[in-house]
Amino acid sequence: MCGIFAAVNKTNVTNNLLGGLSSLSYRGYDSAGIAVVKQGNIERVRASGKLHELENRLHSYPLDGNIGIAHTRWATHGIPNEKNAHPHMTSRVAVAHNGIVENYESLRRRLETAGYIFESETDSETISQLITYYLDLGLNHEQSLCKALLEIEGSYGVAVIFQEQPKTLYAARRGSPLILGKGDSGFYVSSDINAFSEDVSSITYLKDGDVAKINRDGFSVINLQGEKTPRLLQKLEKDGCESGKQGYDHFMLKEIHEQPDVFERTWRHYFNNQRQAFQLPEFSVPDNEVNSITIVACGTSYFAGMVAKYWLEEYAKVPVNIDIASEFRYRKAPLDQNSLAIFISQSGETADTLAAMAHAKAAGLRCISFVNILTSTMAMESDTVLPTLAGPEIGVASTKAFISQLTSLLIFTMSFRQQAHNKHKAQQAKESMEQIPTLLREYLSDTSSIQNVAKLLHKAENMLYLGRGIAYPLAEEGALKIKEISYIHAEAFPAGELKHGPLALVDEKMPVLVIAPPDDLFAKTLSNLREVASRGAKIILVSTRKGLDLARDYVHAEIEMPEIAKQFIPIMYTLPLQLLAYYVALGKGHDVDQPRNLAKSVTVE
Ligand code: AGP
Repeated sequence: MCGIFAAVNKTNVTNNLLGGLSSLSYRGYDSAGIAVVKQGNIERVRASGKLHELENRLHSYPLDGNIGIAHTRWATHGIPNEKNAHPHMTSRVAVAHNGIVENYESLRRRLETAGYIFESETDSETISQLITYYLDLGLNHEQSLCKALLEIEGSYGVAVIFQEQPKTLYAARRGSPLILGKGDSGFYVSSDINAFSEDVSSITYLKDGDVAKINRDGFSVINLQGEKTPRLLQKLEKDGCESGKQGYDHFMLKEIHEQPDVFERTWRHYFNNQRQAFQLPEFSVPDNEVNSITIVACGTSYFAGMVAKYWLEEYAKVPVNIDIASEFRYRKAPLDQNSLAIFISQSGETADTLAAMAHAKAAGLRCISFVNILTSTMAMESDTVLPTLAGPEIGVASTKAFISQLTSLLIFTMSFRQQAHNKHKAQQAKESMEQIPTLLREYLSDTSSIQNVAKLLHKAENMLYLGRGIAYPLAEEGALKIKEISYIHAEAFPAGELKHGPLALVDEKMPVLVIAPPDDLFAKTLSNLREVASRGAKIILVSTRKGLDLARDYVHAEIEMPEIAKQFIPIMYTLPLQLLAYYVALGKGHDVDQPRNLAKSVTVE
């Protein structure tokens, strides 16, 4: 996902801008750039590749100025190279843009016909050219910006500087988050709250349609019609989560090891000590009037939803439909207004999931969201928010957010239709929750066996992940993890589905990871395992000691799991899948935290 950082202050802004881009880099990018207003001109430096390429360029061509904009680009229109990197500019204006200009082709044709020369293949460049067009018509800076933004179809978050305005920074948004921060020596604009440095003490979130006019002493906000719109600064609450890698080699490994704390923080958030019961925020429809639930999400969050489907149907006896967000909004599914719609998202900014929620709201469904970033668009637009308390997740491959999603969804399941409001049940649930962090810590205290299994996979090009019942969504999540960061083509199947085609893929070169917790489907999974072993596949079995002993004759490598209460199996059995993906990717020398082609939050469709 692209990132914007901008600054107007009393000192040279270049280091602030580079610091902001560095904090945004976890979102995924393939080029970057900076522009400042310096002695009456706009000066710009851009580079494709990682930030150190931009820093090298700046050593040879230093930029200084008290006002500037910066951008990390995750390519959507136009290949990742310097020409397509932001900021895009003319001699009169420079723009850093997040989002998609859906009508860029018609705008570009019109501007080129009027004699405006484009230098890039991007949709974003139409914004800087269109603003210039209106400036050339004689409109002032604010009018030119508003007029241009009114013509843009699609989404934008923009930071804008003008050659003739060396002291004023503009920022505007529609669909792509922008936050304004007040620091000791000036004002900043960022796509992401985590990019603000320590000296930023208060913030305000721009809303769709806002245009902020910012100088180093203050700001004002108007709408696109030029009418003043009050936006108040609020104290920036530091979330207390440690930043940095804290001695781990990668954010992903740190975040895997944070999971016992994340589990604990999450369940305790929902447990009311006075009432000695789990307490969810009231949601606008009594749960005994809900006759079905629709769960919608993307990627790892979708697989958390798949686990919740099994839980809700088994424990809360409620029918659950589940959909990939990018499919849900275009399917012509009849939506039942008495259905509860649940959206799951770590970032709360995933365009597909946001659009799916808008689709559900338009159909009159009540929308609940499980979100990790409580200042996100999704959190602000949901009828009810059930927070996941994972803290900032920096690794592109989601780990601790998934565990926090599962924990919140399990508590939701136990509470739905008064499941856990029974005092005795609530006490039992609390006591079982209290034991889990220790079990997770114990498991994470020695990862040597996983590291050994990972060594078997360094040369693998393909893999299968199998599971039955609630182990099937785990197989999907495990396959996604190893795909994302090791680039092995891993595919997950329900173990019972293999004989309907995928078994043709199996030979002695195919590693197959089988997840077989000691549940009522173990025996059937074991017979599927035998099917696969008889075709020569290398089997990696994830099970308890008892399960491993029963399958001993067919297994190439073992991943032993502790005995754990059934409802916590998805939480515990995710750990080895995350660790295996991490150590395989590490062994292949990949950029574990920022894998190729991926972004931390996909804010475009
Ligand atoms: C998971 O490891 C990936 N980073 C990706 O699938 C992610 O889960 C998906 O893009 C959804 O993101 P969200 O939870 O922020 O909506």
